[in-house]
Amino acid sequence: MKIAVILGTRPEIIKMSPVIRECEKRGVEYFILHTGQHYSHEMDKVFFEELELPQPKYNLDVGSGTHAEQTGKIMIGVERILLQERPDVVLVQGDTNTVLAGALAATKLHIKVGHVEAGLRSYDRRMPEEVNRVLADHVSDYLFAPTENAKQNLMKEGIDENKIFVTGNTIVDAVYQNLEIAEKKVNVLEDLGLKPREYFLVTAHRQENVDVKERLKGILKGLELIHTEFSIPIVFPMHPRTQKRVKEFKLSLDSIKIVKPLGFLEFLLLEANAGLVLTDSGGVQEETCILGVPCVTLRDNTERPETLEVGSNILAGTIPERILKSVKIMLSRRGSWRNPFGDGRAGERIVNILTGYHNQNYA
Ligand code: UD1
Ligand code: UDP
Repeated sequence: MKIAVILGTRPEIIKMSPVIRECEKRGVEYFILHTGQHYSHEMDKVFFEELELPQPKYNLDVGSGTHAEQTGKIMIGVERILLQERPDVVLVQGDTNTVLAGALAATKLHIKVGHVEAGLRSYDRRMPEEVNRVLADHVSDYLFAPTENAKQNLMKEGIDENKIFVTGNTIVDAVYQNLEIAEKKVNVLEDLGLKPREYFLVTAHRQENVDVKERLKGILKGLELIHTEFSIPIVFPMHPRTQKRVKEFKLSLDSIKIVKPLGFLEFLLLEANAGLVLTDSGGVQEETCILGVPCVTLRDNTERPETLEVGSNILAGTIPERILKSVKIMLSRRGSWRNPFGDGRAGERIVNILTGYHNQNYA
């Protein structure tokens, strides 16, 4: 059994890390194919270093571009490597252009595709990620659904139940494997002059938010209102897409502490100790739920409805007054919910299933 692990962006490196570690531990034959969708040190290499992952065997260096450019370049590069390597299965994770291109290139060569984090749906096709995840799911042979709800989404679309495995989300493994290491190794709170619980943490990078001036302005105005109301630091490790748009739209960042995107250990520790997190990230909605930290999501919908059901998260959109109101609601809820994303053994289950050790019922 030879596995090709295809990845290309920050969340894929983090969420594939438990699968890669499991392959290493078990001596399963695999290689990493990096598409180069993310390439800046703080969006890419820092995660290989901190998570102690082996270097990719291949890097396609596709870089940034329009959706078609990026997807097309990745498909061409992935096809070339797959013809050379002939793996038994290609693994992709999540909903990026890397995922769609990797899955399409593999399936057209009749190589089996395993989709880690299958079955998430926002039912909002304006999001590039929704298109990517729907298409990737429909060409996949192994659908590793993180939750029962994700499995039901797939079955509603007619996907054969025999292909779907409820494994839990590998982000739980990544959080459990790294939180203690982060606590021992990094001093990010001291470095940024912060005290536990006495700051809010923010991330925002979704295309449909930050590329639209009015929405990005709404988010920043919301943060200003929160700063005025609570008078505590608001820390915003800013994604490069957002940095670019803030400059282009000439927006003010007066009441916010902007820092560069952080390594996973630093970010995890900041999340775990935050009074509250505001975000439009998918992974951050999950991590806050796992860590028991209240989350306000700067979107109108979510493909992680489990977080709303257990009460760790609230949808605020991008209207400033609604963001402030949502913060007030969530501050009363800290930590009193269950984690719906699994027990931290998703990576082990995925490798078991791929290598044939799956006689147990994983549902
Ligand atoms: C991509 C994914 C998104 C995921 C996010 C994780 C798609 C369609 N989008 O969005 O689903 O949530 O990654 O962070 O696949 N840039 C850099 N350095 C980098 C990478 C990007 O400066 O290493 C800048 C470039 O100006 C680029 C912009 O960020 O144009 C956007 O990058 P891109 O990979 O197209 O999309 P993300 O917003 O990162
Ligand atoms: N993250 C990080 N440093 C940061 C911001 C986020 O390591 O400065 C991590 C975060 O812990 C989570 C992942 O990046 O695991 C989420 O990635 P992102 O928000 O870019 O993408 P999404 O999850 O929305 O696809």
